[in-house]
Amino acid sequence: MHFTEMAKRVRAHLAQDHRYAHTVRVARCADLLAAQHGLDTQRARTAGILHDLARLYPAARLIEECRSRQMPIDAFEAANPVVLHARVGAAIAREEFGVHDPHVLSAIEKHTTAAADMSPLDCALYLADGLEPERTFPERAQLWELAKRDLAQAMRAVLSASIQHLIRKGIPVAPQTFAAARALGVSLQEVEVSAN
Ligand SMILES: [Fe+2]
Ligand SMILES: [Fe+2]
Repeated sequence: MHFTEMAKRVRAHLAQDHRYAHTVRVARCADLLAAQHGLDTQRARTAGILHDLARLYPAARLIEECRSRQMPIDAFEAANPVVLHARVGAAIAREEFGVHDPHVLSAIEKHTTAAADMSPLDCALYLADGLEPERTFPERAQLWELAKRDLAQAMRAVLSASIQHLIRKGIPVAPQTFAAARALGVSLQEVEVSAN
């Protein structure tokens, strides 16, 4: 499917201009990071435009979409169903958008919580989603510049900032996010201490 056609169908699927505009920005940012780091830009764009297909589904629907596909739901996901939009989104990308490229599907699956094993493309999407220009936190521009220079460094910085943010707000952190931080060499003790 051509990108323009895909974008048109994503717009219809989401049925919300605000979320659609976000996916377009994420596709652009992912494309840019891919170009910058010698990755496949078409894969990055595709992952970007499709990453939030299930983001607007209510919790009960996300659980139901998993059950009907026999997709396992872990304890964290059961307690925080919103994170399931990543894996459900990948399933919809495959079934309704004909995307079978495992690199693209992996990036979509890991875009919300991150994961212990992330490819450069997975990182590009994760960073594009977190650092697209409409995100408002103060370090955004600086982290975006870092992402253009060094994906792994930017991952460490963004993961540690977001874990600190979640802990401070009392929002539970997914085990996959801790695993990602650990795998990338973020010192979690430091993160937890500075969040307190
Ligand atoms: Fe998302
Ligand atoms: Fe997103």
